[in-house]
Amino acid sequence: MIRLSREGRSMMKSEISLTVNGTEHELAVEPRMLLVTALREELGYTGTNIGCDTARCGACTVRVDGKAIKSCMRFAVQADGSEIETVEGLSEDGGLSPLQENFKEHHGLQCGYCTPGMLMTADTFLEDANDPSREEIREAIEGNLCRCTGYHNIIDAIEDTANQVGDGR
Ligand code: FES
Ligand code: FES
Repeated sequence: MIRLSREGRSMMKSEISLTVNGTEHELAVEPRMLLVTALREELGYTGTNIGCDTARCGACTVRVDGKAIKSCMRFAVQADGSEIETVEGLSEDGGLSPLQENFKEHHGLQCGYCTPGMLMTADTFLEDANDPSREEIREAIEGNLCRCTGYHNIIDAIEDTANQVGDGR
């Protein structure tokens, strides 16, 4: 078994740049580091959760260059140069966004573990959705699992947000 020295391991790191919620970060990561790990452990964006680590639960969903993705399925080096939005960036003024307010109003969460990913998926869906049906909302969040709520209140929260704001957000 070949063991690399600490120096050897650090030599294997790649310098990347990630812009997260509008702030640019330069960091050195090993090629195998997942994007979710870089966000949480290297940059401190711990709002993004890790559930399954195998692309099933959606707890790690973030927006990369405008598209909601599961950040456990992308290496950090693959996101080099990308614009990333995490749940911490949903609200610009430090309060709750309309979608977050509606999750609160409708009790769209219990333990809250799925919530950051659910919010990022729903927020991205609502950017383009035009008066979505409940069925369309269900399809939009099908990649995000929630073991607590039974989904009804989550659907209510997303539906109300779509109805309240002209462009869906
Ligand atoms: S942790 Fe990424 S999909 Fe579950
Ligand atoms: S609120 Fe607990 S997993 Fe969704």
